[in-house]
Amino acid sequence: MAYVDEGTINAIRRKHPIKEIVERYVSLTKKGEDYWGLCPFHADNNASMSVSVKLDMFQCFACHKAGNIFNFIADMENISYGDAIRLLAKEDGYEVYSVKKNDSNLEYYEIFKLANKFYQNNLNSSLGKNAIKYLEDREINRDIISKFELGLSISRQPVTPFLLNKYDINKLIDIGISNTDSNDVFVDRIMIPIHDLHGNPIGYGARIYQTKDGSKYINTKATKLFDKGRILYNYHRAHELLKKDEAIIIMEGYFDVIRASTVGVNNCVAPMGTALTKEQVSILKRATNTVILCFDGDEAGKNATIRAIPLLEEAKLNVKVVRLEEKDPDEFIIKRGKDEFIKKISNPLSVIDFKMSILKDDKDLNDAKDISEYLDQIIRELVKETDEFVVEVNLKKLASRFDIEYDLLKKRYNKYKSANKVRSGNNNIVVKKEKVLDKYGQATDNLLYYMIKSGSVIEKAEKDVVMILDDKKRMLFNEIIYYYHKYGELIIADFISYLVTSTEVFDTFNEIINMNLKDDYTDREISDYISVVNEYVREDKIKKLEMELKFEPDPMKQASICMEITKIRGVKNNDRRN
Ligand code: CTP
Ligand code: MN
Repeated sequence: MAYVDEGTINAIRRKHPIKEIVERYVSLTKKGEDYWGLCPFHADNNASMSVSVKLDMFQCFACHKAGNIFNFIADMENISYGDAIRLLAKEDGYEVYSVKKNDSNLEYYEIFKLANKFYQNNLNSSLGKNAIKYLEDREINRDIISKFELGLSISRQPVTPFLLNKYDINKLIDIGISNTDSNDVFVDRIMIPIHDLHGNPIGYGARIYQTKDGSKYINTKATKLFDKGRILYNYHRAHELLKKDEAIIIMEGYFDVIRASTVGVNNCVAPMGTALTKEQVSILKRATNTVILCFDGDEAGKNATIRAIPLLEEAKLNVKVVRLEEKDPDEFIIKRGKDEFIKKISNPLSVIDFKMSILKDDKDLNDAKDISEYLDQIIRELVKETDEFVVEVNLKKLASRFDIEYDLLKKRYNKYKSANKVRSGNNNIVVKKEKVLDKYGQATDNLLYYMIKSGSVIEKAEKDVVMILDDKKRMLFNEIIYYYHKYGELIIADFISYLVTSTEVFDTFNEIINMNLKDDYTDREISDYISVVNEYVREDKIKKLEMELKFEPDPMKQASICMEITKIRGVKNNDRRN
């Protein structure tokens, strides 16, 4: 991966004031200290986006998207944050390294590269005839074999002794190529190399091809490099070729992805037989706005689709669904050909259409009771839909399809809608969550907000805050303190670069900064926030101790727990007196 160091990132950022970058895309008008323009990230006709010269940030007051120049470019060009940095770095003539220099895993990648070569040679040797025949029967030709670096493990020609010429057995065991008895882990299987997000080889999927005995696939066990939940098969190839505004297609299996590429569809990835994880979703989120779920055509594929949708929607990804009338994408393409497949993926279902189609599955739509249930379920789904036109069109369709008064459907919809105050907005943008915060949450947020704005608040908070219980907010709290001490000040726009590239709390930061509290604050307010936060920690601690007390049989220990509780209560009362 092309690598730019932190100092350079900040230097590039300083060289390009936010106004200059935003004006490449949007025209701005000065009002007071700030500039304002139409927000390009949602349908805006009120000039809701402000560009602050002082903070070197943009912020939309309607859709709540915010960030520095790199966020802006990344979102405009639909590229990752890192790519936005690299884009400007190139423009400014900075040197961009081709690899992160001190990657401690370099030697492991070398081993995998060598093993891949070895397996590929096996496939091309006379011992590989049956495997080649198997692949040819599956319509996998030489070009595809070499593109996906497919290889072959064979018992008569193991890889371990070959690698031992150069590498220590412990290393081979560590990365899941060899067993502790110095034998190969993979024997007589088609080898499918798997790469990390940057294209470094880190493991294998291995398919049997001669017998039906044993597991169809075995994959590299979990290792230091290979963490199935944090990678997606073929991501590095898909990502490299991804065009602006292009979706990523998620399929179930290796051969689905491989087959799709034979018909020119290169934007496919696969989670490799497990349910989609949060980490995988955030990887996708960095690369695209839209994902298309194209799972197997069977019941299992349908259920996997149903499970994946909320996870992707939660990440504010635009989700589309393709349902296939064949076993899987592989078979669909073989049986029905390129054109029909392209037609399918070019006209995916919206989530609501998909749900309407599956809700039908277990119902008899001639039966009045089933119809009523069906309509009710669909209306509950429509309540979550953010596009009013989609709601309207669907209600009309339902009314005519079941010969029911439109007003009746609309009434039910309104009833659920007001019960379920889901925020509406564009799917592609970061929508500020409607937060129902208790006073502790509110105090934490306010405190974090002013820490971001002021060094003296950071110092006070560092000294006085006992702990922040919420994981993400605690991480942000710690990052603020770390960054402040490292650089002696916290320049928000630089801090954003750091958060996006090195941490997982940019979203939390974004929520906090979006509160737009008043600029001035008093020391008294800050002290109040801190005591509320600390009180919460104490309450929490007392609750836990009281729980412990309940289950503690030993009277001596009971007494000491009581004392501890009293002590904590004492601190609290002292605090109140201050
Ligand atoms: N898988 C796995 N281990 C298994 C079975 C499946 O890891 N024992 C993973 C593989 O990544 C596989 C995916 O789950 O590609 C989907 O499984 P399945 O649909 O059963 O396999 P196909 O992709 O259809 O495999 P093939 O076309 O080779 O039969
Ligand atoms: Mn298959």
